[in-house]
Amino acid sequence: MKKKNMKKLLFLNACIRGEASRTLELSRFYIDGFIAGEKNAGRSWEVEEICLDSLNDLKPLDSTELALRDRLLAERNFGHKMFDHAKKIISADHVVIGAPYWDLQFPALLKIYLERCSVTGLTFIYNDEGIPEGQCRAESLMYITTSGSPIGNMNYGYDYVCGLCRLFGIPKTYFASAEGLDIIGNDAAKIMADAKVKITDVIKEIQSS
Ligand SMILES: Cc1cc2nc3c(=O)[nH]c(=O)nc-3n(C[C@H](O)[C@H](O)[C@H](O)COP(=O)(O)O)c2cc1C
Repeated sequence: MKKKNMKKLLFLNACIRGEASRTLELSRFYIDGFIAGEKNAGRSWEVEEICLDSLNDLKPLDSTELALRDRLLAERNFGHKMFDHAKKIISADHVVIGAPYWDLQFPALLKIYLERCSVTGLTFIYNDEGIPEGQCRAESLMYITTSGSPIGNMNYGYDYVCGLCRLFGIPKTYFASAEGLDIIGNDAAKIMADAKVKITDVIKEIQSS
């Protein structure tokens, strides 16, 4: 439940390596800077962090779950706990995804989580012309990643999330990364420091828009 007059930042933490994760370090840097900037502007936020690795009941939609979901959707019965993830993303004012670059994309747990968020009739509804209309309240989503090698034009994880944002009705997406961290000879500390500069710029951009 959201506190009155407080905006909600929803942090989807897909950093499977936990406190050792460099993506988590950048995500926390972003969230701390974002909240501080908002506080300076007189706006209060609460942060809800969802650590995907700790969600023991996070499972892909299998045949049983899909049949149950289809029945509940046909009845327009959205009270089941399987819809809680969708409701959370709908009511957030800003969404942050922290996800390492895995297999050209992101950890599968994030895909499963987003699959659970993507519910016809909740996160998006079809209008009379059959066009989906996103129902999310957030104006923007920030996606943070780190990678072993350069990502280049294979930013499939972020590209996919941008597509989902269009479906869910989140109009703006932002991206920051620290890339090439695992290449021998690269200065990982400098790459991380440069990423933090970029993140600070993104915070300024969001807060001046
Ligand atoms: C399962 C797995 C898959 C990975 N796949 C890629 C990849 O496709 N391309 C790449 O550049 N790095 C890949 N990496 C390296 C990570 O992107 C890199 O180490 C990243 O900084 C890890 O983030 P973390 O410190 O937040 O865990 C992979 C690492 C793991 C553990």
